[in-house]
Amino acid sequence: MILRSILFISFHFLGIISFSMTFGIESLGVQLPQAVLDVDLLATLHKVDPEKFRIGLGCRQMALCGEKETVVDLAVGAAQKALKTWKGDPKKIGFLAVGTETSLDEARPLSAWVAQTLGLSGNIRSYEVKHACYGGMLAVRQALEWKLSGAGHPEQVALVVAADVCMYPFLHAAEPTQGAGAVALIIGDPLLCSLDQKSYCYSEPLFDFWRPTGQFYPIVQGKLSIDAYCRALYQCAKNFTEEKGLEDFLALDHLCFHVPFPKMVFRAVSLLVHRLKLTEQQTEKILKDAAQAVFWNQDIGNAYTASLWISFAYALGHGTQGQRLGIFSFGSGCGAEFMTAKIHHTGNTPWVRDIQEQLKNRQSLSIKEYEALRKNLP
Ligand code: HMG
Repeated sequence: MILRSILFISFHFLGIISFSMTFGIESLGVQLPQAVLDVDLLATLHKVDPEKFRIGLGCRQMALCGEKETVVDLAVGAAQKALKTWKGDPKKIGFLAVGTETSLDEARPLSAWVAQTLGLSGNIRSYEVKHACYGGMLAVRQALEWKLSGAGHPEQVALVVAADVCMYPFLHAAEPTQGAGAVALIIGDPLLCSLDQKSYCYSEPLFDFWRPTGQFYPIVQGKLSIDAYCRALYQCAKNFTEEKGLEDFLALDHLCFHVPFPKMVFRAVSLLVHRLKLTEQQTEKILKDAAQAVFWNQDIGNAYTASLWISFAYALGHGTQGQRLGIFSFGSGCGAEFMTAKIHHTGNTPWVRDIQEQLKNRQSLSIKEYEALRKNLP
């Protein structure tokens, strides 16, 4: 740490800081809500073939908050898990950003609720980031760029949380894609993985999915949103391959995506491989990589900002040192970003067992219990 501080000060003085420092993730925590509903049960309510949800959308289960559980519980739970395995001094947290579209207030940021429960105050930049599901990636990028800029003290770390509860109206076509969850990342030294400085963005002003102020449920233009996701993935991948080359894209060992529903990823990737004119062998590899990282998402559903980082947690937890990850974020509205990371951990992945335990210990709801839970919603 002392050496890092001396290097930081000298590089900063020489103005070459951005070429000399590598930052990444020091710790990771995931919090899932207490309850879960099997999509087969929901299919009976919708009076549709369960295969439509299981195969047509690729969903298995939806994570649901219990009666008194809120987005704050999820965000705090994830942060506490990340802090517990980190073992660092919370006084070193100089940056706290919460990416969410489940805000509790128009002015007070969700980060204030997190800071309050965790007892974080003082020399900390604390705020909320909103851009639909893209808010989590934006918070991660801002934390990384805060470290790279030298705006904080070199020993300070950033705590980023992506947390959301995704609900749609009863019997709406999107209801089987509901979900909830939170992922917290401590960003500082590259202990678990390094995060590459360069990223590839795409945005386009759209009304494909939005939630007017004061309204509980979003308004969804399903087909428009699917097309926007596909277009954004292609544009980001094109920007990446034009700069780094197609070989570099194909050499990535894991691909993690925002997962509104698992089939969305296959749809967008299938279109991408077609537009990139990949060979059969290359296509097979990319589709296989994409399929692997949605494993947990299939049992969680769309946790909006957290969905990508759940997929990332799976890939990071199941990868090995030296492997590289491609990370794609999409948020309606719409904004998207693709970045890469490299695995540094040597098998220390406490969150993997923790998530498996959480998945196993959730309360499985009956249809009646699900309907009762919904009675409290608008
Ligand atoms: P739907 O009405 O279920 O659509 O709505 P569908 O009738 O087209 O059926 C879906 C698929 O099931 C189709 O597959 C059917 O063929 C298939 P496809 O042809 O598309 O490959 N199917 C069956 N398969 C097997 N057996 C059967 C069967 N019957 C039908 N028996 C929709 C689906 C996604 C539109 C809806 O769930 C929705 O509106 N979801 C919300 C919007 C969304 O998730 N968009 C994704 C991109 S936007 C995004 O990612 C941002 C977001 O996360 C928000 C944010 O950024 O904050 C949503």
